[in-house]
Amino acid sequence: APIPPPDLSTCRTNLGPPVPYSCCPPTNTTIVDFTPPTNPPMRTRPAAHLATAQYMERYNRAVQLMRNLPANDPRNFMQQSYVHCAYCNGAYFYPAAQGLNGGQIQVHGNWLFFPFHRWYLYFHERILGSLINDPTFALPYWNWDSPDGMNTPTMYNNSRTYPALFNERRNQTIYTRPVNLATGTNSNLTPQQIANNNCAVMYNEMISTATTLESFMGRPYRRGNAVPNGAGTSERGSHNAVHNWCGDPRERAGEDMGNFYSAGRDPIFYCHHSNVDRMWTLWRERRATNQRDFTDTDYLNSQFLFYDENRRLVRVRVADCLDTTRLGYQFQTQGVTVPWTTCRP
Ligand code: C2O
Repeated sequence: APIPPPDLSTCRTNLGPPVPYSCCPPTNTTIVDFTPPTNPPMRTRPAAHLATAQYMERYNRAVQLMRNLPANDPRNFMQQSYVHCAYCNGAYFYPAAQGLNGGQIQVHGNWLFFPFHRWYLYFHERILGSLINDPTFALPYWNWDSPDGMNTPTMYNNSRTYPALFNERRNQTIYTRPVNLATGTNSNLTPQQIANNNCAVMYNEMISTATTLESFMGRPYRRGNAVPNGAGTSERGSHNAVHNWCGDPRERAGEDMGNFYSAGRDPIFYCHHSNVDRMWTLWRERRATNQRDFTDTDYLNSQFLFYDENRRLVRVRVADCLDTTRLGYQFQTQGVTVPWTTCRP
């Protein structure tokens, strides 16, 4: 059976270390089912390194407004970070009727990884857009799979001009060199060597070791299953590397980016995951005639709950997020190269 949506009324408020607070959302007994927007204006997510100053200002303003919302408003910036904490650090259980293994919900290490994070960013993006009255607002993506975009996007490290995007709890060495996708840690390699290695990493995880749905998407995870340890190539590889790269070694648990509970407190999280989401999109496009999505109804009918820009609690299904254009967004392609398709090591 599919993974049902979490039961908010049984959300665990005390998760133990390293989680220092409750990340349960406000409860709401009215749940609406997601319906795809009709004729949505297209949102085009820009590559972060190509974004204009005007874009960065608007984005900074939107995040500032999100930070300024009342602490218990589900659209508040900290509340947005709690979403990740709750789905990933063990706060949620589905109703226990068939609750073997306690019915804990976990969206990493299995086939829910890409769909969950796509939905998460979808609502985050809509909230930001509504706060600045711009229905075309789109999150940027950190284009770490191309040498032009491997450095940390500068908008996240400018506390004076873009204070809402700045975060102190990051590894302080990430601003001067390209991200190392092979290890997620600093090394003595030159930028050129890092770029070459990254190209091979991308080729590997997107092409040579990602030939089947399961190898790329992650292992099946159904109601009653123990949470599998079955991350796909991209989650295990570049995705984890960038988290580790950004997490602050001065903090106890690698906060913010280096830990599930705190990752969403860093605005750069959404920029990173925007590119993770783009990787899913590129991988699907490259499938040509091969099957692009699991057809298993346990996958397609798995559900999540998110608050939307109108503070409505929305129930979504995996099946409704497979095509980003139906959700009303796409990724900038102009001026962006995809060098790794030919980087056979
Ligand atoms: Cu839910 Cu990048 O992790």
